[in-house]
Amino acid sequence: MGSGEFTVRPAAEDDRRALAALFAEVAEERDGIAAEPPIDVDQLAAGWKIEGTVVAVAAGAVIGEIRVDPTWMGFGDIGMMVAAPWRGRGVGSALVAAAIAWARARGLHKLALSVFPHNEAAVALYRKSGFVEEGRLVRHVRRANGQLWDLIEMGLLL
Ligand SMILES: CC(C)(COP(=O)(O)OP(=O)(O)OC[C@H]1O[C@@H](n2cnc3c(N)ncnc32)[C@H](O)[C@@H]1OP(=O)(O)O)[C@@H](O)C(=O)NCCC(=O)NCCS
Repeated sequence: MGSGEFTVRPAAEDDRRALAALFAEVAEERDGIAAEPPIDVDQLAAGWKIEGTVVAVAAGAVIGEIRVDPTWMGFGDIGMMVAAPWRGRGVGSALVAAAIAWARARGLHKLALSVFPHNEAAVALYRKSGFVEEGRLVRHVRRANGQLWDLIEMGLLL
């Protein structure tokens, strides 16, 4: 699956390093994902759950990823990111669609995620993909600079 510019496929063992490097790059932004530097790229690469991860690839490079983490309660937690130069070009939409297909095939009944309220691109992407807002966790995440950020909980029944 892809737009011609990029393709989307299940992650493979060989993607570990690229996945961890992308994560570290996005963490440097200190904006969209909860993780902040420093990221131990070697440790992250070694522990990355390949099963349930879908990557977007362009010219042989990983430019985006989404990971579904199935829980014993039957729903899956989602986390995702797209490399900054590739945002706004449909990569995130393709990854969410692939994750929904993966979760359905896996028999999950629901996908869930947390997003910072200021992350307009992510909230718009999730809404467009059918997720609805289910609640708000107030001053939930303490940032490295001491700020306390809310989280919006979103879910999609499959
Ligand atoms: C959130 C993120 C994954 C979106 O990926 P993307 O590839 O840019 O998404 P798409 O190009 O498929 O856009 C999806 C929708 O998001 C919305 N959108 C995209 N960029 C936007 C922006 N800058 N502002 C507001 N809405 C935006 C649009 O509704 C768009 O749908 P449309 O093109 O049909 O109008 C990407 O911005 C990202 O990786 N951000 C940093 C990490 C992060 O925040 N991860 C999510 C944590 S919950």
